[in-house]
Amino acid sequence: MNAQPRRVEHLQTDKGSVPVYTTAVVEQPWSTYTREDHATWATLFERQREILVGRAAREFIENQHKFGMTPQAIPKFSDLNRVLKQATGWELIGVEGLLPELTFFDHLANRRFPVTWWIRKPEQIDYISEPDLFHDLFGHVPLLLNPVFADYMQAYGKGGVKAHGIGTEALVNLTRLYWYTVEFGLIRQDDGLRIYGSGIVSSKGDSIHCLESAAPNRIGFDLQRIMRTRYRIDTYQKTYFVIDSYDELIRATEPDFTPLYAQLARSESIPAGAVLPGDDVLQRGTGEGWADNADV
Ligand code: PHE
Ligand code: CO
Repeated sequence: MNAQPRRVEHLQTDKGSVPVYTTAVVEQPWSTYTREDHATWATLFERQREILVGRAAREFIENQHKFGMTPQAIPKFSDLNRVLKQATGWELIGVEGLLPELTFFDHLANRRFPVTWWIRKPEQIDYISEPDLFHDLFGHVPLLLNPVFADYMQAYGKGGVKAHGIGTEALVNLTRLYWYTVEFGLIRQDDGLRIYGSGIVSSKGDSIHCLESAAPNRIGFDLQRIMRTRYRIDTYQKTYFVIDSYDELIRATEPDFTPLYAQLARSESIPAGAVLPGDDVLQRGTGEGWADNADV
């Protein structure tokens, strides 16, 4: 029998109505994964591993090897935790799915990374609208082995708890930062532009689009610019932001954001596809194929 995720309610957020699950931490029900589940893992794992050669950031690929994940079976969180805990002190915890913001921030602030225990269905191989086990494990976990990135994730969690106390608008600003770095970030490395964002590495279409398509803008990292920029949740991104190192991320996000939130509250948001004077434009997108319906 395949266990089912326990969904409790739908929550209205800036991203529309999103499914929210029970907030409980759950034991990974590993023995309930079906042959189909393991096969889905294998298909996605092998496909992405191939696509990411020469596309993903060097340390993403290196760290993935260190975990010893294989296409043979869905990994056990307990096995990954042995590697992770002693490397950077992070711990994976099983959850039913997307968490309420404050619960999520609190986990990150304490170096716990919530991983959805269930995997998508075969018909969702190319696209799923919410995070599943493949996205969380394959996409997010490798960089938690990188000491600087691991610290950035914890700092983000602490910043999230604080922003939550400040208000909804602060949370919107902070969420954009997560989106354009942790989920959809690109990094400039010696051998060229590479992917580090989890939302990209866990998707075939996004992995190719973000580097090879002429449509999107690719712009140098700029904290305030990012925190004002809307984004796409149901299409490819119109803009990617490029860092030079994870140190750049940590350094730029070290200052107290409280005055920044107050300042941002007085400025307009920027459409997802806009290019502004002052942007460090690596590539200006052609905008080909862009949907003109609203960005979130
Ligand atoms: N320095 C930020 C603050 O004071 C916290 C933060 C760190 C936010 C890293 C995002 C990433 O709110
Ligand atoms: Co994610």
